Amino acid sequence: MQGPLTLLNALELSTAYLANRGIQTARLDAEVLLAHVLGVRRLDLYLGFDKPVADGERSSFREAITRRAAFEPVAYITGKKEFYSLGFVVTRDVLIPRPETELLVDKCLECSKRLEARLDKPIKIFEIGTGCGAIAICLARELKHSQIIASDVSEKALAVAADNARRWGVIDRILFLHGDLFCGFNQPLDIIVSNPPYVAFGEREALQREITEYEPAQAIFAGERGTEVIEKIIHQAARGRLQPGGHLLLEFGQGQRTEIERILKATRAYNSIEVFLDYQNIERIVQVKKHA
Ligand SMILES: C[S@@+](CC[C@H](N)C(=O)[O-])C[C@H]1O[C@@H](n2cnc3c(N)ncnc32)[C@H](O)[C@@H]1O
Repeated sequence: MQGPLTLLNALELSTAYLANRGIQTARLDAEVLLAHVLGVRRLDLYLGFDKPVADGERSSFREAITRRAAFEPVAYITGKKEFYSLGFVVTRDVLIPRPETELLVDKCLECSKRLEARLDKPIKIFEIGTGCGAIAICLARELKHSQIIASDVSEKALAVAADNARRWGVIDRILFLHGDLFCGFNQPLDIIVSNPPYVAFGEREALQREITEYEPAQAIFAGERGTEVIEKIIHQAARGRLQPGGHLLLEFGQGQRTEIERILKATRAYNSIEVFLDYQNIERIVQVKKHA
């Protein structure tokens, strides 16, 4: 990128550079990063293609493109990600929230609203593995009366989640706990929801470099089978964490349905197993009810 540059030149050059490095979404990423550096919306780029890129912006853009060419995810470079129509701060300490997880929020909201109406009292919802706080924060914004507790093994992730909760005005509505799964919280829960780590160690090679080189391993990998964390949640929920009549909702990986159904059935604690497909028609969410 030598000589005076217009926005269009900068986009074309960086798109070619990223594509050449093997980035599949080169043009889109170049546009998002240029808009980020200029502090404008992506659409605004199209209205000012002939504008020159100032020197300071040019070096910031070059730095952003260099990071993307090294397969760093766009969200870590911009420091933000949209989820459920809300903007969240993300750092390399947290998983970047995925669109398919919005379905988990939808199902959890449906189920929580039904339960609140039926019980006619505020309910307790526990989210395991909150990461940047996306799920807990969406729930807290929609469910004004429920008590929401969210845990994570990563203290750094919890700091990001608390920052996001403050930005969205729900810091007083969520109790963040640091530690393993339920972190010793022993009050009976009406709903347990989690998008836990669910990738098997052996699947590492099949993942994109963006994931294996940048996202926190403890947010992705669960063990040799991939279902280890899910299994612990199912067992602990069955053994008293979940109220009779309470609901458990879990996101899981492609091809894990049969194993998860086996684990659920073996506990003899749940009924009405429902599985929901994500937007790509992949089985992604399981929802069960504990026997009353
Ligand atoms: C797949 S990420 C989900 C993050 C966020 N809830 C989302 O959906 O975008 C899993 C999260 O669980 C956390 N985690 C992993 N093992 C855990 C455990 N045993 N107890 C609590 N949190 C755990 C990780 O640190 C990570 O933040």
